[in-house]
Amino acid sequence: MSLQLEIPTLTNQFDYFPGTRYMGSKNKIIGDLWKVLRTYEFESFYDAFAGSNIVGYFMKCQGKKIISNDFMAMSYHTANAIIENSFVQLEESEIDFLVNRDNSNNFISKKFKGLYFSDSDNHFLDQVRANIDLLDNDYKKSIALSSLSRACIKKRPRGIFTFIGHRYDDGRKDIQDSLKEHFLNNISIFNAAVFDNGYDNKSFNTQTQKLEIGADLVYLDPPYYSQKSDNDYVRRYHFVEGLVKNWEGLEIQENTKTKKFKSYKSPFSNKINAYDEFDKLFAKFSNSIIAVSYSSNSLPTKEELTEILKGHKKSVSVHEIDHTYSFGTQPHKIGNVNNRVKEYLFIGE
Ligand SMILES: C[S@@+](CC[C@H](N)C(=O)[O-])C[C@H]1O[C@@H](n2cnc3c(N)ncnc32)[C@H](O)[C@@H]1O
Repeated sequence: MSLQLEIPTLTNQFDYFPGTRYMGSKNKIIGDLWKVLRTYEFESFYDAFAGSNIVGYFMKCQGKKIISNDFMAMSYHTANAIIENSFVQLEESEIDFLVNRDNSNNFISKKFKGLYFSDSDNHFLDQVRANIDLLDNDYKKSIALSSLSRACIKKRPRGIFTFIGHRYDDGRKDIQDSLKEHFLNNISIFNAAVFDNGYDNKSFNTQTQKLEIGADLVYLDPPYYSQKSDNDYVRRYHFVEGLVKNWEGLEIQENTKTKKFKSYKSPFSNKINAYDEFDKLFAKFSNSIIAVSYSSNSLPTKEELTEILKGHKKSVSVHEIDHTYSFGTQPHKIGNVNNRVKEYLFIGE
């Protein structure tokens, strides 16, 4: 079989970043963040709630030593594939193996029949997912898992799994292409995003509050509690997160239409715990420069968060970035004044 992978030819390394519409992604404001962060001196950068990994990858491109963490496995594998990994790529023979080796796995075909993808796409997912486990290198596994995740997100209308069936199918090419086509395309995109910046960069997959690690500059972008918008990452991406973990250790809630699994608990997205958790997190990084992304429709309020940060840092500055969310709200509400959210960057030194 000839795989005919298209290799993108781009000039800046950051242009190779495989972006998605991940909820809360800083893709639209990365330039604004950099304008502020570049004025500080730091060699190591800890992206402690990495999400899409756009911020960590951007900093890797700026020649910083990166530590990345997120409690979602899908996020971790992206970091492992293109931030920690400096050299390893998936080779043609391995891609051929992933796509063509037949096996009898049919978990997705049965459990998710008719929910998100066609029978042939589900069969493809079953085959590839089982074959990925047979790869002998963890970075290769992460490239394959990230490519499969991005394939599913690209093909899915609105990129999310909170509804079943084909609502919002606008006939885009991304929705028409098979998952196999998406997967092959994404492998070449992830392969091309692998590069060495001279540092031993690290990726982790745990609750940030439990991870004992630090850096010169720690960037915090947790989910915030808000009455106006949903911040449950598992609810949106459960299918992809389940796929990456092969649903191992996850409890699928059989009574739900979407067959989502029981959400991970994050103390940051909960009104009662959030204040205390920020306080503990700031204490933990009191020897680092702390940068916190924050949007104006959340709790703690801007003033409260400033006070908590002041409890651990001599000097606190707040930078304002004007930003309209194009995602995370219903389409009919776009343009609604409620979507006009101010994005802040707090710096504690
Ligand atoms: C606002 S998003 C980060 C977006 C990211 N900065 C970007 O540009 O894509 C918040 C992330 O925090 C993760 N998260 C939530 N609670 C966490 C916890 N307790 N420990 C680690 N990660 C957590 C979520 O999975 C999500 O990816």
